[in-house]
Amino acid sequence: MNSLAVENLSGGYGKLGVFRDTFLTVAPGETVGIFGPNGAGKTTLLSTIMGLLPAMSGRVMLGGADVTHMPAYRRARSGIALVPEGRQILSTLTVGDNLELARVSTGAKSNDKAFNGRLDEVYSLFPRLLERSKQLGGSLSGGEQQMLAIARALLIKPSILILDEPTQGLAPVVVQGLRETLAKLKGRFGIILVEQNRDFLDSLVDRTITMRAGICSPT
Ligand SMILES: Nc1ncnc2c1ncn2[C@@H]1O[C@H](COP(=O)(O)OP(=O)(O)O)[C@@H](O)[C@H]1O
Ligand SMILES: [Mg+2]
Repeated sequence: MNSLAVENLSGGYGKLGVFRDTFLTVAPGETVGIFGPNGAGKTTLLSTIMGLLPAMSGRVMLGGADVTHMPAYRRARSGIALVPEGRQILSTLTVGDNLELARVSTGAKSNDKAFNGRLDEVYSLFPRLLERSKQLGGSLSGGEQQMLAIARALLIKPSILILDEPTQGLAPVVVQGLRETLAKLKGRFGIILVEQNRDFLDSLVDRTITMRAGICSPT
């Protein structure tokens, strides 16, 4: 299990700076919350950690290795998994094929025992996905789509699981189910949980960082 260290990181879009001088560490098994209003720069920070956006300055370290200039697909193979805001599952592919895409991204073959073991594990964690494996992603409810997005992230065998506002748009009973799922996963790898639902966040994290106008501070 690897730790993540974000060191003096700044980022944004082109020349537009969105967040700056950010320090954040996630130890193996630790769950760190990030709380902050809309527009604070949370998604931009997560995208930069994942490598979907280039850093303007500073470093992203994974298990002591500098991954700041590594493309996103290689960071994923190194163990950084993002469950993006709005889930972003593929609505015109089946549930099963959405999960098979994770196989492609890890480079595992169809007979790869480790990957197939993880697939069995995510189907037992989310039996609903097994029941619906032949249905199109777009036919799932919001809660089921969130399960699929998390399942996809688990299949890459994360060291660090990053979740960007996973409760957004979910009914309270579904949020409760998601809380139970994340409580089960907590401790198995590092987690960064971005949330505006404070009760949800507080019930799961070891500590929380607040982000406002691009600046992170301990809470
Ligand atoms: N693709 C983009 N291009 C330019 N600016 C963007 C883009 N996406 C977000 N922003 C701006 O970056 C700032 C932070 O946005 P974001 O990281 O999405 O915040 P949060 O996730 O905390 O709501 C906002 O001012 C937003 O308008
Ligand atoms: Mg966001």
